[in-house]
Amino acid sequence: MKEKLRIGIVGTGGIAHAHMRQYLQMEDVEIVGASDIIPGKARAFLDEFELNKVPAFENNEKLYALEPDGVSVCTYNTQHHTCACEAMERGIDVLCEKPMSVTLDQAVQMARTQKKTGRILTIGFQPRYGENMQMIKHLVRSGELGHVYYIQTGGGRRRGIPGRTFVQKDLAGVGCLADIGCYGLDMALNAVGYRKPVTVSAYASDYFGKNPKYYDPIKGKGEFSVDDFTCALVRFEDGLVLDFRMSWAMHMDTMGDTLFLGTEGGLKVKSPNPDKLWGGAWDGGVGEIYLYKDIDGNPVEVHVPKKDEDNKQNFFFKKVRAFCDAVKTNGPSPIPWQEIINNQAIIDGIIRSSAAHEEVKVVIPEI
Ligand SMILES: NC(=O)c1ccc[n+]([C@@H]2O[C@H](COP(=O)([O-])OP(=O)(O)OC[C@H]3O[C@@H](n4cnc5c(N)ncnc54)[C@H](O)[C@@H]3O)[C@@H](O)[C@H]2O)c1
Repeated sequence: MKEKLRIGIVGTGGIAHAHMRQYLQMEDVEIVGASDIIPGKARAFLDEFELNKVPAFENNEKLYALEPDGVSVCTYNTQHHTCACEAMERGIDVLCEKPMSVTLDQAVQMARTQKKTGRILTIGFQPRYGENMQMIKHLVRSGELGHVYYIQTGGGRRRGIPGRTFVQKDLAGVGCLADIGCYGLDMALNAVGYRKPVTVSAYASDYFGKNPKYYDPIKGKGEFSVDDFTCALVRFEDGLVLDFRMSWAMHMDTMGDTLFLGTEGGLKVKSPNPDKLWGGAWDGGVGEIYLYKDIDGNPVEVHVPKKDEDNKQNFFFKKVRAFCDAVKTNGPSPIPWQEIINNQAIIDGIIRSSAAHEEVKVVIPEI
């Protein structure tokens, strides 16, 4: 087991700060360097954390040449696969930010590289570390619901279009679907156990991002070229159906709660903070939880007490710590591609189906 981990950061924008704050709390981690393609950005980032002596690079290869044990890949979405694959090829373990990638092809490339190199590749879905998310998974997997045949996951923001690299297609690849939609998908699929999607019928629109009344490209720092609303019906190999809805902006408080319908029971997870304009994403918080069952022929509704909620910072710490522990022990990936590739296949299917205006087949190739 490694005593001290040597860690690097690839891409030093917004979320890299959250990664760094966690690493700096860990006595067994040394930050060995950071890189960003924007000149001076990695240097300024390290200086912000008073890491003035730690080297900064504009070329990831120079960071990899320091042979860190692991890197956090915190680039925008379209660069995840390139950076993750390059790092793994050089024998470096990778904590990659969500979503895993944009397209299924990219995710397949990452999965194959992981398989070939044997490095750790984990995808950064921190809500998984929330106690209430874990309880939802346990309730669904307990068997109390019987056979789960339908899931709805909704949520979404009423006014929550981010700016910068999130709204430009060449950088983000997709909009609300990849930014917050992937959390809803992970919540649903992690609860039921990842299954193979086979078809997707989807719709996406950009009415708010393209309307200066709701989104100012100058203030938002980017011409809007992605989706701000998306919904899809996804069918899985075993007959399960997922009704998915997500939005960055709409004239509605929520696109609904998350519902699991089973032959013996149902579970409702209320949308988190639908009253807040920016609330409603499944990125950590969950609303009230209700279980529906028949007891002795009587339909009952049980309010399930929530666990004392960790705050989102704790989830983030746990996600980064889980990666470090895996690197130290060469242990299994905490959130492996074997699970998330299904999530990514759905995102890819939604992109293709909404562009084609028709249902598409989903085929995950052999890895
Ligand atoms: N887990 C979370 O809670 C959370 C929150 C926000 C963002 N994210 C994810 O984190 C990622 C980054 O988001 P952000 O808000 O930090 O974006 P950002 O635009 O602020 O930062 C991305 C940085 O990566 C750099 N970069 C791009 N390509 C690169 C490359 N090939 N090599 C080195 N650097 C490169 C960019 O120059 C930029 O500085 C996105 O995938 C996003 O979905 C996750």
